[in-house]
Amino acid sequence: MFESYHCEKLEKTLHFLPDGVKFCCSCAEGTGIKINDFSKFNKEEIIKGKKKYIDLLKKGYIPKECKGCIEYKKNNLYKKIKSIFIKQHKNKITHIIIDHFKQCDSNCIYCSQKKLFSERTQNYELLPIIKQLYEQNMIDTENLKVEFQGGNISELKEFEDLMKEFYEHNCDDFVILMNGIKYIPILEEIGNNWKSHICISLDAGTKETYKKIKNIDAFDQVIENIKRLKQKSKAQISLKYIIIKDVNDNKEELEKFLNVAKEIGNIQPLHLEIDYNDTLLSPGTRFDIPKHYYELFEEAENYCRKNNISYKVFPYTKHILKQGYSI
Ligand SMILES: C[S@@+](CC[C@H](N)C(=O)[O-])C[C@H]1O[C@@H](n2cnc3c(N)ncnc32)[C@H](O)[C@@H]1O
Ligand code: SF4
Ligand code: SF4
Repeated sequence: MFESYHCEKLEKTLHFLPDGVKFCCSCAEGTGIKINDFSKFNKEEIIKGKKKYIDLLKKGYIPKECKGCIEYKKNNLYKKIKSIFIKQHKNKITHIIIDHFKQCDSNCIYCSQKKLFSERTQNYELLPIIKQLYEQNMIDTENLKVEFQGGNISELKEFEDLMKEFYEHNCDDFVILMNGIKYIPILEEIGNNWKSHICISLDAGTKETYKKIKNIDAFDQVIENIKRLKQKSKAQISLKYIIIKDVNDNKEELEKFLNVAKEIGNIQPLHLEIDYNDTLLSPGTRFDIPKHYYELFEEAENYCRKNNISYKVFPYTKHILKQGYSI
């Protein structure tokens, strides 16, 4: 029987970028499918665009934009039969990624955004588009997850209005990536149900290293902001440590970071990562994972186990650690 595929991200995601809207998420390895013309941000064009690619996959054809991506999956017999009868392109949006803004109040040495988008500006306002999507009944209000990437939300002028729009439509599922340098009061309202998750990349255990990495002297301020937010909201807060070669890739710094996480209390999860400039962002260049990186991962995992902190490593990072290199 014929092959057939589907991609859940394609069916249910809208990822707003500075130069267009993508139909799937940025962590996907394929280049993804985009509408670059802002005048085509409307129901008809979005449905038409998604349908075209959903149908190609359904018929067993892998579009060039999806080549190399790990997200499309083979349909089993049941799915194949179901896909003939159910019009999947009628699925509503359950995942919105807000990533159209690149303004930031920090200047991290590792920032992937500098490589991908040299302009630190914003080309369009998203609020009118979100309003339109709600009006046109394109959003699955019961299951919507909203993820803020960026840039940093503290510099996004429409952040508060966007949050209000989502709150008004009973959205209670947010993932917010931020640097935590400025305190943002509207965040106090999220997370009453423990679904939402705010991830702060601290990347250091001391003021000195923090300043070296972020080019701003704000370590203490970030810790204070995290503590304040934890007091005022029920949001789940996670902390990230990106291992950067010759900067924070040593046990002393990591141990101090782990102690800071423990002292803040109830950090869920603690997330260790390897600088993408050495891995994902250098395709074609082999990066052998240094031996001492394994010790750092082991140390963090043991510390978290002992102190009852959940610990997270992304599947891609687990994969390159197991393999010993990235390429
Ligand atoms: C570009 S940032 C935007 C959000 C926010 N400004 C922040 O720093 O958390 C989105 C996510 O990408 C991560 N990131 C950026 N550059 C990276 C790199 N070179 N390697 C690994 N993660 C990176 C950050 O840690 C953050 O969680
Ligand atoms: S297979 Fe990958 S690139 Fe293609 S639509 Fe899905 S997530 Fe995007
Ligand atoms: S805070 Fe985030 S967006 Fe800003 S420079 Fe650092 S990684 Fe990049």
